Amino acid sequence: MKISVVGLGYVGLPVTICLAELGWTMHGIDINSNKINMLNKGKLTQYELELQELFVKNRDKITFTSSMDPISVSDIVIITVGTPSKKNKADLSYLYSAFKEITGYLRGYTCIIIKSTVPPGTNEKFESLIKEKSGADFDLVFLPEFLREGSAVYDFFNPDRIIIGSDSKKAIDMIKELYKPMGNDKKFMVTSKLSAEIIKHASNAFLAMKIEFINEISDLCGEIGGDISEVSHGIGLDKRIGDKFLNPGPGFGGSCFPKDIEAIINVARDYNVKLPLIENTIQMNNNRQNIISERILNTLKQFKDPKIAIFGLTFKGETDDCRNSPSIKIINNLLKNDLNIIVYDPKGMDNSKQFIQGNIKYANDEYDLVKDVDCLVILTDWNQIKKIDLVKVKILMKNNIIIDLRNMINSKEAVNLGFKLVQIGKKQISSDNRLYIVNEKEDVQL
Ligand code: UDX
Repeated sequence: MKISVVGLGYVGLPVTICLAELGWTMHGIDINSNKINMLNKGKLTQYELELQELFVKNRDKITFTSSMDPISVSDIVIITVGTPSKKNKADLSYLYSAFKEITGYLRGYTCIIIKSTVPPGTNEKFESLIKEKSGADFDLVFLPEFLREGSAVYDFFNPDRIIIGSDSKKAIDMIKELYKPMGNDKKFMVTSKLSAEIIKHASNAFLAMKIEFINEISDLCGEIGGDISEVSHGIGLDKRIGDKFLNPGPGFGGSCFPKDIEAIINVARDYNVKLPLIENTIQMNNNRQNIISERILNTLKQFKDPKIAIFGLTFKGETDDCRNSPSIKIINNLLKNDLNIIVYDPKGMDNSKQFIQGNIKYANDEYDLVKDVDCLVILTDWNQIKKIDLVKVKILMKNNIIIDLRNMINSKEAVNLGFKLVQIGKKQISSDNRLYIVNEKEDVQL
Protein backbone atom coordinates (compact mmCIF):
# COMPACT_ATOMS: atom_id res chain seq x y z
CA MET A 1 0.00 0.00 0.00
CA LYS A 2 1.11 3.58 -0.71
CA ILE A 3 0.27 6.17 1.88
CA SER A 4 0.08 9.97 1.91
CA VAL A 5 0.02 12.08 5.04
CA VAL A 6 -1.37 15.62 4.66
CA GLY A 7 -0.15 18.05 7.35
CA LEU A 8 3.31 17.49 8.81
CA GLY A 9 3.01 18.95 12.30
CA TYR A 10 3.46 17.45 15.77
CA VAL A 11 1.25 14.48 14.81
CA GLY A 12 1.71 14.18 11.02
CA LEU A 13 5.50 14.10 10.93
CA PRO A 14 6.01 11.40 13.59
CA VAL A 15 3.19 9.34 12.04
CA THR A 16 4.83 9.59 8.57
CA ILE A 17 8.25 8.55 9.86
CA CYS A 18 6.91 5.77 12.12
CA LEU A 19 4.82 4.29 9.28
CA ALA A 20 7.94 4.31 7.10
CA GLU A 21 9.70 2.40 9.90
CA LEU A 22 6.89 -0.19 9.60
CA GLY A 23 7.96 -0.62 5.98
CA TRP A 24 5.43 1.50 4.07
CA THR A 25 6.21 3.84 1.19
CA MET A 26 5.23 7.27 2.46
CA HIS A 27 4.46 10.66 0.92
CA GLY A 28 4.54 13.57 3.34
CA ILE A 29 2.57 16.59 2.09
CA ASP A 30 2.46 20.07 3.62
CA ILE A 31 1.54 23.47 2.12
CA ASN A 32 4.44 25.07 3.99
CA SER A 33 7.23 24.95 1.40
CA ASN A 34 9.92 26.02 3.91
CA LYS A 35 9.07 22.98 5.98
CA ILE A 36 9.23 20.74 2.90
CA ASN A 37 12.62 22.21 1.91
CA MET A 38 14.04 21.52 5.35
CA LEU A 39 12.69 17.98 5.42
CA ASN A 40 14.09 17.34 1.96
CA LYS A 41 17.48 18.45 3.31
CA GLY A 42 17.10 15.83 6.03
CA LYS A 43 16.35 18.31 8.84
CA LEU A 44 13.47 17.78 11.24
CA THR A 45 11.16 20.75 11.70
CA GLN A 46 10.30 20.03 15.32
CA TYR A 47 12.00 18.50 18.32
CA GLU A 48 10.79 15.01 19.14
CA LEU A 49 12.68 12.37 21.11
CA GLU A 50 14.09 9.50 18.96
CA LEU A 51 12.54 10.91 15.78
CA GLN A 52 15.78 12.15 14.19
CA GLU A 53 17.37 8.67 14.28
CA LEU A 54 14.24 7.10 12.84
CA PHE A 55 14.11 9.78 10.14
CA VAL A 56 17.68 9.14 9.03
CA LYS A 57 17.05 5.38 9.00
CA ASN A 58 13.90 5.61 6.83
CA ARG A 59 14.75 8.63 4.69
CA ASP A 60 14.65 6.61 1.41
CA LYS A 61 11.08 5.42 2.04
CA ILE A 62 9.64 8.94 2.30
CA THR A 63 9.13 11.73 -0.23
CA PHE A 64 8.19 15.24 0.91
CA THR A 65 6.27 17.68 -1.25
CA SER A 66 3.83 20.60 -1.25
CA SER A 67 2.03 19.14 -4.25
CA MET A 68 -1.08 16.96 -3.97
CA ASP A 69 0.07 14.70 -6.84
CA PRO A 70 0.92 11.73 -4.55
CA ILE A 71 -2.76 11.52 -3.52
CA SER A 72 -3.62 10.03 -6.92
CA VAL A 73 -1.32 7.03 -6.32
CA SER A 74 -2.20 6.54 -2.65
CA ASP A 75 -4.37 3.76 -1.24
CA ILE A 76 -4.58 5.50 2.10
CA VAL A 77 -4.60 9.26 2.75
CA ILE A 78 -4.10 10.33 6.35
CA ILE A 79 -5.13 13.86 7.24
CA THR A 80 -3.34 15.41 10.20
CA VAL A 81 -3.81 19.15 9.62
CA GLY A 82 -4.26 21.42 12.64
CA THR A 83 -7.68 22.23 14.09
CA PRO A 84 -6.69 25.15 16.35
CA SER A 85 -9.08 26.87 18.72
CA LYS A 86 -10.92 29.93 17.40
CA LYS A 87 -13.35 31.66 19.75
CA ASN A 88 -13.37 28.50 21.92
CA LYS A 89 -14.40 26.31 18.97
CA ALA A 90 -12.24 24.06 16.80
CA ASP A 91 -11.35 25.93 13.61
CA LEU A 92 -11.92 23.43 10.80
CA SER A 93 -10.78 25.69 7.95
CA TYR A 94 -7.49 23.81 7.39
CA LEU A 95 -9.43 20.57 7.21
CA TYR A 96 -11.89 22.03 4.67
CA SER A 97 -9.01 23.32 2.51
CA ALA A 98 -7.22 19.97 2.71
CA PHE A 99 -10.35 18.21 1.50
CA LYS A 100 -10.95 20.74 -1.24
CA GLU A 101 -7.39 20.14 -2.42
CA ILE A 102 -7.36 16.36 -2.30
CA THR A 103 -10.76 15.40 -3.73
CA GLY A 104 -9.76 16.22 -7.32
CA TYR A 105 -6.75 13.89 -6.99
CA LEU A 106 -8.57 10.78 -5.72
CA ARG A 107 -8.21 7.86 -8.18
CA GLY A 108 -9.85 4.47 -7.65
CA TYR A 109 -10.84 3.48 -4.10
CA THR A 110 -9.13 5.47 -1.32
CA CYS A 111 -9.32 5.03 2.42
CA ILE A 112 -9.22 8.55 3.91
CA ILE A 113 -8.21 8.63 7.55
CA ILE A 114 -8.84 11.71 9.67
CA LYS A 115 -6.44 11.97 12.59
CA SER A 116 -6.99 15.68 13.20
CA THR A 117 -9.09 16.04 16.34
CA VAL A 118 -12.51 17.30 15.32
CA PRO A 119 -15.64 17.94 17.42
CA PRO A 120 -18.13 15.06 17.68
CA GLY A 121 -20.32 14.88 14.60
CA THR A 122 -17.81 16.39 12.16
CA ASN A 123 -16.66 13.23 10.35
CA GLU A 124 -20.15 12.03 9.40
CA LYS A 125 -20.94 15.49 8.03
CA PHE A 126 -17.68 15.65 6.09
CA GLU A 127 -18.12 12.23 4.56
CA SER A 128 -21.61 12.89 3.21
CA LEU A 129 -20.65 16.36 2.01
CA ILE A 130 -17.65 15.13 0.03
CA LYS A 131 -19.37 12.05 -1.31
CA GLU A 132 -22.18 14.29 -2.55
CA LYS A 133 -19.86 16.86 -4.14
CA SER A 134 -17.01 14.82 -5.58
CA GLY A 135 -18.53 11.48 -6.52
CA ALA A 136 -15.13 9.88 -5.70
CA ASP A 137 -14.89 6.31 -4.42
CA PHE A 138 -13.69 6.52 -0.83
CA ASP A 139 -14.46 5.80 2.79
CA LEU A 140 -13.74 8.24 5.54
CA VAL A 141 -12.48 6.83 8.83
CA PHE A 142 -11.88 8.66 12.08
CA LEU A 143 -8.76 7.21 13.68
CA PRO A 144 -8.06 9.33 16.78
CA GLU A 145 -4.40 9.81 17.62
CA PHE A 146 -3.39 9.49 21.26
CA LEU A 147 0.34 10.13 20.98
CA ARG A 148 1.92 12.69 23.29
CA GLU A 149 4.48 15.23 22.19
CA GLY A 150 7.86 14.31 23.58
CA SER A 151 7.05 10.60 23.51
CA ALA A 152 5.35 10.40 20.12
CA VAL A 153 7.62 7.63 18.81
CA TYR A 154 7.21 5.48 21.93
CA ASP A 155 3.43 6.06 21.93
CA PHE A 156 3.13 5.19 18.24
CA PHE A 157 4.77 1.81 18.71
CA ASN A 158 3.13 1.09 22.07
CA PRO A 159 -0.49 2.15 21.74
CA ASP A 160 -2.94 1.26 24.53
CA ARG A 161 -5.61 0.94 21.83
CA ILE A 162 -6.24 1.76 18.19
CA ILE A 163 -9.77 3.10 17.83
CA ILE A 164 -11.18 2.75 14.32
CA GLY A 165 -14.24 4.92 13.80
CA SER A 166 -15.79 3.40 10.69
CA ASP A 167 -18.58 1.19 9.38
CA SER A 168 -16.76 0.17 6.19
CA LYS A 169 -15.29 -3.35 6.28
CA LYS A 170 -12.96 -2.49 3.40
CA ALA A 171 -11.52 0.53 5.19
CA ILE A 172 -11.28 -1.29 8.55
CA ASP A 173 -9.33 -4.14 6.90
CA MET A 174 -6.94 -1.67 5.27
CA ILE A 175 -6.23 0.00 8.61
CA LYS A 176 -5.60 -3.35 10.26
CA GLU A 177 -3.19 -4.13 7.40
CA LEU A 178 -1.47 -0.77 7.93
CA TYR A 179 -0.66 -1.55 11.56
CA LYS A 180 -0.06 -5.29 11.00
CA PRO A 181 3.76 -5.03 11.13
CA MET A 182 3.36 -3.92 14.76
CA GLY A 183 1.40 -7.06 15.66
CA ASN A 184 -1.30 -5.12 17.47
CA ASP A 185 -4.17 -7.46 16.63
CA LYS A 186 -5.74 -7.32 20.04
CA LYS A 187 -5.51 -3.55 20.38
CA PHE A 188 -8.11 -2.66 17.74
CA MET A 189 -11.52 -1.42 18.72
CA VAL A 190 -14.00 -0.64 15.98
CA THR A 191 -16.67 1.95 16.76
CA SER A 192 -18.90 4.41 14.97
CA LYS A 193 -17.25 7.66 13.89
CA LEU A 194 -19.22 9.54 16.52
CA SER A 195 -18.17 7.23 19.37
CA ALA A 196 -14.54 7.49 18.23
CA GLU A 197 -14.79 11.29 18.31
CA ILE A 198 -16.30 11.21 21.80
CA ILE A 199 -13.66 8.70 23.00
CA LYS A 200 -10.92 11.10 21.90
CA HIS A 201 -12.44 14.13 23.63
CA ALA A 202 -13.51 12.24 26.75
CA SER A 203 -10.01 10.72 27.14
CA ASN A 204 -8.40 14.15 27.06
CA ALA A 205 -11.04 15.59 29.40
CA PHE A 206 -10.55 12.74 31.88
CA LEU A 207 -6.76 13.13 31.92
CA ALA A 208 -7.12 16.88 32.36
CA MET A 209 -9.52 16.28 35.25
CA LYS A 210 -7.00 13.94 36.86
CA ILE A 211 -4.37 16.69 36.70
CA GLU A 212 -6.67 19.28 38.25
CA PHE A 213 -7.65 16.75 40.91
CA ILE A 214 -4.06 16.18 41.97
CA ASN A 215 -3.40 19.92 41.86
CA GLU A 216 -6.31 20.38 44.25
CA ILE A 217 -4.99 17.68 46.61
CA SER A 218 -1.49 19.19 46.38
CA ASP A 219 -2.88 22.51 47.61
CA LEU A 220 -4.42 20.68 50.54
CA CYS A 221 -1.09 18.96 51.30
CA GLY A 222 0.78 22.27 51.08
CA GLU A 223 -1.51 23.82 53.67
CA ILE A 224 -1.85 20.98 56.16
CA GLY A 225 1.54 19.38 55.79
CA GLY A 226 1.21 16.17 53.80
CA ASP A 227 3.67 15.35 51.04
CA ILE A 228 2.02 15.24 47.62
CA SER A 229 4.64 12.83 46.21
CA GLU A 230 3.73 10.24 48.84
CA VAL A 231 0.02 10.94 48.52
CA SER A 232 0.11 10.75 44.72
CA HIS A 233 2.06 7.49 44.81
CA GLY A 234 -0.34 6.05 47.38
CA ILE A 235 -3.40 6.97 45.34
CA GLY A 236 -1.89 5.63 42.12
CA LEU A 237 -1.20 2.19 43.59
CA ASP A 238 -4.94 1.56 43.38
CA LYS A 239 -5.22 -0.04 39.94
CA ARG A 240 -8.69 1.44 39.50
CA ILE A 241 -7.10 4.89 39.65
CA GLY A 242 -3.71 4.22 38.05
CA ASP A 243 -0.42 6.01 38.70
CA LYS A 244 -0.24 8.18 35.55
CA PHE A 245 -1.16 11.87 35.29
CA LEU A 246 -0.98 12.44 39.01
CA ASN A 247 1.89 14.93 38.98
CA PRO A 248 0.93 18.33 40.38
CA GLY A 249 2.16 21.48 38.69
CA PRO A 250 1.20 24.83 37.23
CA GLY A 251 -1.71 23.33 35.26
CA PHE A 252 -2.04 21.72 31.87
CA GLY A 253 -1.31 23.35 28.52
CA GLY A 254 -0.41 22.41 24.97
CA SER A 255 -2.33 22.34 21.76
CA CYS A 256 -4.75 19.56 22.75
CA PHE A 257 -6.17 19.55 26.27
CA PRO A 258 -7.38 23.19 26.46
CA LYS A 259 -8.71 23.15 22.90
CA ASP A 260 -10.40 19.75 23.01
CA ILE A 261 -12.07 20.44 26.34
CA GLU A 262 -13.50 23.75 25.10
CA ALA A 263 -14.68 21.93 21.97
CA ILE A 264 -16.58 19.22 23.84
CA ILE A 265 -18.17 21.80 26.15
CA ASN A 266 -19.32 23.74 23.10
CA VAL A 267 -20.77 20.71 21.37
CA ALA A 268 -22.64 19.77 24.58
CA ARG A 269 -24.02 23.31 24.78
CA ASP A 270 -25.40 22.99 21.25
CA TYR A 271 -27.43 20.04 22.54
CA ASN A 272 -28.35 21.76 25.85
CA VAL A 273 -26.25 19.28 27.82
CA LYS A 274 -24.29 20.49 30.84
CA LEU A 275 -20.82 19.06 31.61
CA PRO A 276 -20.10 20.56 35.05
CA LEU A 277 -17.08 18.36 35.83
CA ILE A 278 -15.39 19.21 32.56
CA GLU A 279 -16.41 22.88 32.73
CA ASN A 280 -14.91 23.16 36.23
CA THR A 281 -11.73 21.46 35.05
CA ILE A 282 -11.04 24.08 32.42
CA GLN A 283 -11.98 26.94 34.75
CA MET A 284 -9.69 25.61 37.48
CA ASN A 285 -6.88 25.28 34.97
CA ASN A 286 -7.42 28.78 33.56
CA ASN A 287 -7.11 30.12 37.09
CA ARG A 288 -4.21 27.90 38.14
CA GLN A 289 -1.48 30.00 36.56
CA ASN A 290 -2.84 33.17 38.24
CA ILE A 291 -2.76 31.46 41.63
CA ILE A 292 0.78 30.19 41.02
CA SER A 293 1.91 33.68 39.86
CA GLU A 294 0.57 35.14 43.14
CA ARG A 295 2.47 32.53 45.13
CA ILE A 296 5.70 33.39 43.34
CA LEU A 297 5.13 37.11 43.88
CA ASN A 298 4.49 36.54 47.59
CA THR A 299 7.72 34.62 47.89
CA LEU A 300 9.62 37.43 46.18
CA LYS A 301 8.18 40.13 48.46
CA GLN A 302 11.18 39.83 50.74
CA PHE A 303 13.46 41.28 48.02
CA LYS A 304 13.55 44.92 46.98
CA ASP A 305 14.37 44.53 43.31
CA PRO A 306 14.51 40.77 42.78
CA LYS A 307 16.21 39.17 39.84
CA ILE A 308 14.53 35.88 39.00
CA ALA A 309 15.55 33.00 36.80
CA ILE A 310 12.91 30.86 35.15
CA PHE A 311 13.70 27.38 33.91
CA GLY A 312 11.24 26.04 31.31
CA LEU A 313 9.13 27.75 28.66
CA THR A 314 7.50 24.83 26.88
CA PHE A 315 4.11 23.47 27.99
CA LYS A 316 5.87 20.36 29.32
CA GLY A 317 9.34 18.82 29.15
CA GLU A 318 10.94 17.10 26.13
CA THR A 319 9.20 19.22 23.47
CA ASP A 320 9.85 22.58 21.78
CA ASP A 321 6.13 23.43 21.76
CA CYS A 322 5.13 26.59 23.65
CA ARG A 323 1.45 26.71 22.66
CA ASN A 324 -0.76 27.38 25.70
CA SER A 325 2.24 26.96 27.95
CA PRO A 326 1.40 27.52 31.66
CA SER A 327 4.98 28.71 32.05
CA ILE A 328 4.52 31.54 29.55
CA LYS A 329 1.22 32.60 31.10
CA ILE A 330 2.99 32.84 34.46
CA ILE A 331 5.92 34.77 32.96
CA ASN A 332 3.51 37.25 31.34
CA ASN A 333 1.78 37.72 34.72
CA LEU A 334 5.13 38.33 36.42
CA LEU A 335 6.16 40.78 33.71
CA LYS A 336 3.12 42.92 34.58
CA ASN A 337 4.87 43.44 37.94
CA ASP A 338 8.03 44.79 36.28
CA LEU A 339 10.18 41.93 37.42
CA ASN A 340 13.71 41.43 36.19
CA ILE A 341 13.45 38.01 34.51
CA ILE A 342 15.95 35.76 32.79
CA VAL A 343 14.79 32.49 31.22
CA TYR A 344 16.20 29.29 29.81
CA ASP A 345 14.62 26.33 28.06
CA PRO A 346 16.52 23.46 26.39
CA LYS A 347 14.44 23.57 23.15
CA GLY A 348 11.63 26.14 23.46
CA MET A 349 13.43 29.53 23.42
CA ASP A 350 12.72 30.37 19.75
CA ASN A 351 9.09 29.27 19.84
CA SER A 352 8.47 31.18 23.09
CA LYS A 353 9.30 34.59 21.60
CA GLN A 354 5.96 35.01 19.82
CA PHE A 355 4.04 34.53 23.10
CA ILE A 356 6.08 36.54 25.63
CA GLN A 357 4.63 39.99 26.33
CA GLY A 358 7.50 42.09 27.67
CA ASN A 359 11.25 42.22 28.05
CA ILE A 360 13.12 39.22 29.32
CA LYS A 361 16.67 37.98 28.93
CA TYR A 362 17.49 34.59 27.46
CA ALA A 363 20.32 32.58 29.05
CA ASN A 364 22.72 30.24 27.25
CA ASP A 365 22.26 27.29 29.60
CA GLU A 366 20.94 26.44 33.06
CA TYR A 367 24.10 27.70 34.81
CA ASP A 368 24.21 30.98 32.86
CA LEU A 369 20.54 31.26 33.92
CA VAL A 370 21.18 31.29 37.66
CA LYS A 371 24.15 33.70 37.76
CA ASP A 372 23.51 36.41 40.40
CA VAL A 373 19.78 35.73 40.67
CA ASP A 374 17.81 35.84 43.91
CA CYS A 375 15.40 33.09 43.01
CA LEU A 376 15.19 30.17 40.59
CA VAL A 377 11.68 29.15 39.49
CA ILE A 378 11.21 25.78 37.77
CA LEU A 379 8.11 25.72 35.59
CA THR A 380 8.60 22.89 33.09
CA ASP A 381 9.39 19.24 33.84
CA TRP A 382 12.47 18.77 31.65
CA ASN A 383 14.51 15.72 32.66
CA GLN A 384 17.58 17.96 32.32
CA ILE A 385 16.70 19.94 35.45
CA LYS A 386 16.81 16.78 37.56
CA LYS A 387 20.51 16.47 36.74
CA ILE A 388 21.45 20.06 37.60
CA ASP A 389 24.54 20.43 39.81
CA LEU A 390 23.07 22.15 42.87
CA VAL A 391 26.50 22.84 44.36
CA LYS A 392 27.38 24.89 41.28
CA VAL A 393 23.96 26.58 41.33
CA LYS A 394 24.46 27.59 44.98
CA ILE A 395 27.78 29.22 44.15
CA LEU A 396 26.35 31.08 41.14
CA MET A 397 23.15 32.40 42.72
CA LYS A 398 23.09 35.64 44.71
CA ASN A 399 20.32 34.45 47.01
CA ASN A 400 19.19 30.94 47.72
CA ILE A 401 15.50 30.50 46.96
CA ILE A 402 14.30 27.78 44.60
CA ILE A 403 10.61 27.60 43.77
CA ASP A 404 10.14 24.21 42.17
CA LEU A 405 6.66 24.02 40.67
CA ARG A 406 7.18 20.57 39.13
CA ASN A 407 8.84 18.93 42.13
CA MET A 408 11.95 18.06 40.10
CA ILE A 409 14.66 18.95 42.61
CA ASN A 410 16.01 16.50 45.17
CA SER A 411 14.69 18.25 48.25
CA LYS A 412 17.04 16.63 50.77
CA GLU A 413 20.11 17.63 48.77
CA ALA A 414 18.83 21.17 48.20
CA VAL A 415 17.99 21.69 51.86
CA ASN A 416 21.35 20.27 52.99
CA LEU A 417 23.11 22.70 50.68
CA GLY A 418 21.28 25.57 52.36
CA PHE A 419 18.69 26.38 49.72
CA LYS A 420 15.30 27.65 50.77
CA LEU A 421 13.30 25.27 48.63
CA VAL A 422 9.61 25.61 48.02
CA GLN A 423 7.89 22.79 46.19
CA ILE A 424 4.31 22.18 45.25
CA GLY A 425 2.15 20.35 47.79
CA LYS A 426 4.92 19.94 50.35
CA LYS A 427 6.26 21.60 53.44
CA GLN A 428 10.02 21.99 53.44
CA ILE A 429 12.41 22.50 56.27
CA SER A 430 15.56 24.39 55.34
CA SER A 431 18.99 23.96 56.91
CA ASP A 432 18.21 26.80 59.34
CA ASN A 433 15.28 24.70 60.59
CA ARG A 434 12.72 27.13 59.30
CA LEU A 435 9.72 25.92 57.45
CA TYR A 436 9.05 27.12 53.91
CA ILE A 437 5.84 26.33 52.15
CA VAL A 438 4.76 27.14 48.66
CA ASN A 439 1.14 27.82 49.50
CA GLU A 440 1.65 30.46 52.19
CA LYS A 441 -0.48 33.49 51.39
CA GLU A 442 1.76 36.11 53.02
CA ASP A 443 5.31 34.92 53.36
CA VAL A 444 7.27 31.74 52.78
CA GLN A 445 8.95 31.77 56.17
CA LEU A 446 7.27 30.45 59.27
C1 UDX B 1 -2.15 15.03 25.10
C2 UDX B 1 -2.66 13.59 25.33
O1 UDX B 1 -1.97 13.01 26.44
C3 UDX B 1 -2.47 12.75 24.07
O2 UDX B 1 -3.05 11.47 24.27
C4 UDX B 1 -3.16 13.45 22.91
O3 UDX B 1 -2.90 12.75 21.71
C5 UDX B 1 -2.65 14.88 22.76
O4 UDX B 1 -2.82 15.59 23.99
P1 UDX B 1 0.22 16.25 24.99
O5 UDX B 1 -0.56 17.50 24.71
O6 UDX B 1 1.41 15.95 24.16
O7 UDX B 1 -0.75 14.96 24.86
O8 UDX B 1 0.71 16.34 26.51
P2 UDX B 1 0.48 15.52 27.85
O9 UDX B 1 1.65 14.70 28.13
O10 UDX B 1 -0.82 14.85 27.88
O11 UDX B 1 0.44 16.73 28.90
C6 UDX B 1 -0.55 17.76 28.81
C7 UDX B 1 -0.34 18.79 29.89
O12 UDX B 1 -0.62 18.25 31.18
C8 UDX B 1 1.10 19.34 29.98
O13 UDX B 1 1.05 20.73 30.21
C9 UDX B 1 1.69 18.60 31.17
O14 UDX B 1 2.73 19.28 31.80
C10 UDX B 1 0.46 18.49 32.08
N1 UDX B 1 0.55 17.36 33.04
C11 UDX B 1 0.58 16.08 32.57
C12 UDX B 1 0.57 17.61 34.40
O15 UDX B 1 0.54 18.77 34.83
N2 UDX B 1 0.62 16.56 35.25
C13 UDX B 1 0.64 15.27 34.84
O16 UDX B 1 0.68 14.35 35.69
C14 UDX B 1 0.62 15.01 33.46
